Amino acid sequence: MSEAENQATSILLPSSGVAVYSRDKTTVVSAQAIKEDWRFARVDIQVSEGDIETAIEAYQNAPSPDLIIVQTDTVDESFTGRLEALAPHCSEGTAAIVIGPENDVYLYRQMIEMGVSDYLVRPVETSILADVIAKTVIEKIGVTGSRLIAFAGAKGGVGTSVIAQSLAWAVSETLGQKTILLDASGGWSTLGVGMGFEPSTTLAEAVRAAEAQDEDSLARMLFKASDHLSVLASGGDAMLEQSITASQYERLLDMLMVKYPVVLVDLSASASDLKNAVLARANQVVLVSTATLPALRLGRSVLQEMKEIRGDSDEGIEMVINMQGFAPANEVPKADIEKAMDFKPAAMIPFDPKLFVGNESEGKKLIDDKAGNALVHNVLLPVLQRTLASDLAGTQVVEEQSGGIGGLINKITKKA
Ligand SMILES: Nc1ncnc2c1ncn2[C@@H]1O[C@H](COP(=O)(O)OP(=O)(O)OP(=O)(O)O)[C@@H](O)[C@H]1O
Ligand SMILES: [Mg+2]
Repeated sequence: MSEAENQATSILLPSSGVAVYSRDKTTVVSAQAIKEDWRFARVDIQVSEGDIETAIEAYQNAPSPDLIIVQTDTVDESFTGRLEALAPHCSEGTAAIVIGPENDVYLYRQMIEMGVSDYLVRPVETSILADVIAKTVIEKIGVTGSRLIAFAGAKGGVGTSVIAQSLAWAVSETLGQKTILLDASGGWSTLGVGMGFEPSTTLAEAVRAAEAQDEDSLARMLFKASDHLSVLASGGDAMLEQSITASQYERLLDMLMVKYPVVLVDLSASASDLKNAVLARANQVVLVSTATLPALRLGRSVLQEMKEIRGDSDEGIEMVINMQGFAPANEVPKADIEKAMDFKPAAMIPFDPKLFVGNESEGKKLIDDKAGNALVHNVLLPVLQRTLASDLAGTQVVEEQSGGIGGLINKITKKA
């Protein structure tokens, strides 16, 4: 599978416009049905009864969308001639897909040479049309290759930020990936403490630079933690004001994802709408919880909402149970967590204040400590295994643990 195909099957597609011109009922119905596909929530699909002439007419005075799909009954020279006539009315980035009546290799080649992205044969099933559009949109808009990994806590203070930061180091240093770490919490960010910088900017400034496509300004807002790891040095925002919108934040992500193969976003302590937007489009979500009842109860609910915004699927979501052993008598054992949440934790991290808070207080990163390094590489890094699969060959996988306080399961599942 190519990278674009790989991404097309699993992410919320970027904002884009698609126009479909067809006189064929099945094609029209298939195209309309795509609007129901969760991946297309931000793709504006306009379906018109028409043909290549209607398309030529439409873009005489109006800007063309990112992708034009034209269905045709005739595929001789006259059609390719009209396709050439359409080209001058389209902006440079516009892609075209043709749906024709027959499978003709010669014609297929000719159209691909003309710059047509794909040639499909009628009737086209919705799922095939959706996949072809998704792939084309990703290729055109340029959100390729890059992996967006979001970290969210079931509740506050469960260690989401320290886990995001430790994995940022591991992904950049150990896997050698060019990585950027962002904190979406504005003035509540503790990133400066964890990564050792004074916040020099705000989320509001960063999204302004992204909206203006001002790469130089944005570059100045980055703290270079190492050769491979950059951090957006935000945190100077007012704490009691919401300064940016989710769509502005997404523009920032769009811009960074073109430049950084791995983008990590710490969502702890951030606004719900930013959480929603990032969780919906992330390739991977790491949900952090503790094994205590309040955290698991919230974890169960947020997991459900996450699935809903990710196309009713838990694919790409991993759960990390942190601070295990913090209150041993009151914690739910792993096997019971799995049963109650109907979800298997990918990793368990022990409660170790000396290691975590100790290093934090001295301004040291976890991976510089021997035990911390082992924990990050052997337990945490494998959680990103599926998303960063090719870079992770040979890492150890966390050992199974089990226990049994069955009664707690009911307490987690029971609605508050
Ligand atoms: N496994 C652990 N053992 C002991 N202390 C830990 C552990 N994990 C995190 N901590 C400590 O818990 C505190 C909270 O961690 P952190 O700031 O990462 O949580 P958070 O979930 O991001 O919080 P917030 O909701 O405020 O953003 C920090 O002092 C951190 O060092
Ligand atoms: Mg945090």
